[in-house]
Amino acid sequence: MAVVEVRQLEKSFKGKEAVKGLDFELQRGKVIALLGPNGAGKTTTLRMLSGLLKPTKGTIRFSETNENEDIRNHIGFLPQYPSFHSWMTGKEFLIYVGQLAHLSKDEAQERANELLEKVGIANAANQRIGKYSGGMKQRLGIAQAMIHQPQLLMLDEPVSSLDPIGRREVLQLMEELKEQTTILFSTHILGDAEEICDDLLLMHNGKILESGPIKELQIKHQTSLLEIIIEENPETYIDRLKAFESIEDCKLEKGKLLVAVNDMDKARTQILQAALQEKWPLIKFELRRTTLEEMFMKVVSG
Ligand SMILES: Nc1ncnc2c1ncn2[C@@H]1O[C@H](COP(=O)(O)OP(=O)(O)O)[C@@H](O)[C@H]1O
Ligand SMILES: [Mg+2]
Repeated sequence: MAVVEVRQLEKSFKGKEAVKGLDFELQRGKVIALLGPNGAGKTTTLRMLSGLLKPTKGTIRFSETNENEDIRNHIGFLPQYPSFHSWMTGKEFLIYVGQLAHLSKDEAQERANELLEKVGIANAANQRIGKYSGGMKQRLGIAQAMIHQPQLLMLDEPVSSLDPIGRREVLQLMEELKEQTTILFSTHILGDAEEICDDLLLMHNGKILESGPIKELQIKHQTSLLEIIIEENPETYIDRLKAFESIEDCKLEKGKLLVAVNDMDKARTQILQAALQEKWPLIKFELRRTTLEEMFMKVVSG
């Protein structure tokens, strides 16, 4: 079941289209990564979903809100560059945020303690935020976003600015929070997405290029290729190769024959037998795999 449905969502800044017609749903209880290079439109999308930015066009529908209800009651948001009052302690900050979210002083205090515990900074509750490490600040930021028990937690590049230890801590925390809320987080690093997300939205130039369960996308983009180099007239072998039923496609790229294969064992045997019998001037015969990583690199490098 979807927590939120996005239809034809667009945002332009002074005529520049940052987000160009997005359609997607977020499934309840999942961790969803919004993956894309810098400038893809991730922050703009998250800010529209969180109600901070008005879409130019399109609709965002939360399943459990009424017509006139403020969607901010149901979502928590950690911006890409959060700012904290560094003179406050972590606990003071959470109580302050809790009261802003209309909790009573007692409720806010109770919720603050609970969250400090949950995000693993209870021992620094009474320390000034100015003294927190990057990872601790991100964890406090996540606690802040969880103060009113939102159905959807949105985190904009929550681990991008962290060192490897901080990164690990925050990813682990997100994994734990998954039990309580749906999480949508943005990142420009495929590895972060692969590590914890269930579903992936791949964004580039304001559009979603791919979406779905990450496991399925990994399989979809894992195709097997053979790279073959033939000394003379490689183009004359294309039709010969395509005739094998184990071969899906074949094309010539920079003098190399790239062969997409549906049954690697069979293709290998068939090609090598033909090469032997027909005395092909074979120079190279190599197995290559393409992965989600290669697809992403292609997107990133344009
Ligand atoms: N307030 C703004 N005014 C003008 N252009 C903006 C504004 N915010 C974002 N953009 C532009 O929109 C595009 C997408 O930006 P952004 O959503 O921040 O991407 P990402 O978070 O994926 O790096 C970029 O080209 C950016 O320069
Ligand atoms: Mg951004």
